[in-house]
Amino acid sequence: MANLTISKLRYFAQENLADRLRRVHREYGDVVWFPLQRFVLVNDAEMIERVLVTNARNYGKSQAMRAAKVLLGDGLLTNEGDFWRQQRRMMQPAFHRRQIGQLTRTMTDCIEEMLAGWQNGAVINVSADLSTLTLTIVAKALFGSAISTDEAQKVSTALDFMLKLFQQRAILPFAFLNRLPLPSNQSAENHINTLNQIIYRIIGERRQSGEMGDDLLGMLMAAQDEESGIGMSDKQLRDEAMTLFLAGHETTASHLTWTLWLLDQHPNTLDRALAEISAVVGTRTPTLADVGQLTYLRQVIDESLRMYPPGWLFGRIAHADDTLNGVQIPAGTTVLISAYLMHHHPRYWDRPEQFDPDRWKTAPSDPNSQRLAEERARFAYFPFGGGARLCIGNQFALLESTLTLTMILQQFRLRFLDDRVEKMASLTIRPKSDLWARLE
Ligand code: HEM
Repeated sequence: MANLTISKLRYFAQENLADRLRRVHREYGDVVWFPLQRFVLVNDAEMIERVLVTNARNYGKSQAMRAAKVLLGDGLLTNEGDFWRQQRRMMQPAFHRRQIGQLTRTMTDCIEEMLAGWQNGAVINVSADLSTLTLTIVAKALFGSAISTDEAQKVSTALDFMLKLFQQRAILPFAFLNRLPLPSNQSAENHINTLNQIIYRIIGERRQSGEMGDDLLGMLMAAQDEESGIGMSDKQLRDEAMTLFLAGHETTASHLTWTLWLLDQHPNTLDRALAEISAVVGTRTPTLADVGQLTYLRQVIDESLRMYPPGWLFGRIAHADDTLNGVQIPAGTTVLISAYLMHHHPRYWDRPEQFDPDRWKTAPSDPNSQRLAEERARFAYFPFGGGARLCIGNQFALLESTLTLTMILQQFRLRFLDDRVEKMASLTIRPKSDLWARLE
C-alpha cells in the first residue's frame, strides 16, 4: 500500500492516463492512495470481487458517472438503488442470449451495407467506419426501420459531440462545469434536444399506433415490472434508449478497431482465423449457428478484450466504511478499478504484454489450458465489469464483433498504415488518432 504525492502526479501526467496508472501500479504496488485520500486504486482480484460482488450494496457509482446524467438521465448506466434494480429486471429479458440472437440478420445487413462501400486498394478510416457501423447497428436494433438514415446521422453527430465532452470532463470531478454558461454546454443542450426529438417522436408514434414493434424499444415498451406490474414511462424509455446508444456504440467500435489492428500485426493469428472462417462459413453470410462454431475467432476477441478493454477504468464510492483485505476504506472514498491494469497484472498473467489468443484455449483434451483457466482469479479478467452491474449488452457486443470480424475477413485484408498506435484513455481506451488501413 502506498501514497502518491502531488509532485509524482505531475511527473506521471506526461503519459496517457492508462499507462500512467500502470506506472503508478508498478512503482507503488496493488493499493495506491491518491493525494487527499479520496481516491484509492486497487489492483487485487479479491478486493475487486468484494467491491463488485460480495459487498456491492455498499458501493455506488462514481462522480464521473453521475455527471453523465446530463445526457443519460436515469438510464441503467447512471441509475442506482431500487430504481436501478427494477429497471434492470425489466430490461434483462430483452438482452438474453436467445433474444439477442434474433438480431443476427439486422447486424449482418448493416455490415453488408458498410462493406458495399469498401473497394479493393482503397485507404479507409477504420475507426470512423466502425464507429458508424456500431451506431447504425444499435439504432436498428433499438428502433428497427422507424429511424431514418438522416436521423441516424444526426444521432451520430450529437453522440460524438457528447462523448468528446465526457471524455474531456470524465477525469475532472467538477460536475458544476456542466451548469456553467459555456459555449460547449450550449452546444450540448442543442444536441440533447435533437436526440430527444428523434427518440420521443418514435416512442409517440408507437404509443399512438398501439403496435410496440419487435425491436428492442418494442420489448422495453412491453416490459412490466413483475412485482408492481408497471411499465416504463416515456421519459424512462428515452433515458434507456440514450444509454444503450452511448454504452453500446463507442465501446464495440474501439474493440473492433483494436482487434483488426492486432490481427494485422500478428499474421499467423490472422491466418488461423481465416482458415477457421473459411472452414465454418465459407463465403456465405454468417448465421447465429456459425457464431458458436468460430471458437478460435472467439479466443482472438477475448484476447483483444484482455489487451485493450474499452471499459478500462471505473469507480465506486463507498457508502459506509469497509475493509478490503485488511485495508480500511472510509465512507466517501472512490475505489478505482481498472480492467486494463488487472488484465496486464504479472501476478495473474503469464507474458501479459504478449497477444496470445491461445491462452483462451480450454479444449477438454488440453489439461494445461483447463488448469490455467481454473486457476485464474475471477476478477483478473472482467472486460464487461462484474457482479449485478455486469454489462447488460455483453452478448450483443460479442455477437456483433464476431459477425463483423467474420464478414470483413471474408472479403478483405486490412493493411494498417501505422505499426505503432498511441492509446487515448479517458471514458474508453482507444487509439489516440483515427486508424487508417489499405484494403486488399
Ligand atoms: C465491447 C463492448 C463493450 C464493453 C467492453 C462494455 C463494457 C461495459 C462495462 C465494463 C460495464 C460496467 C460499468 C460499471 O460497472 O461501472 C458496462 C455496463 C453497461 N453496458 Fe456495456 N460494454 C460493451 C458493449 C455494450 C453494448 C453493445 C451495450 C448495449 C447495447 C452495452 C450496454 C451497457 C449498459 C446499459 C451498462 C450498464 C449496466 C448496469 O449498470 O446495469 N454495453 N459495459
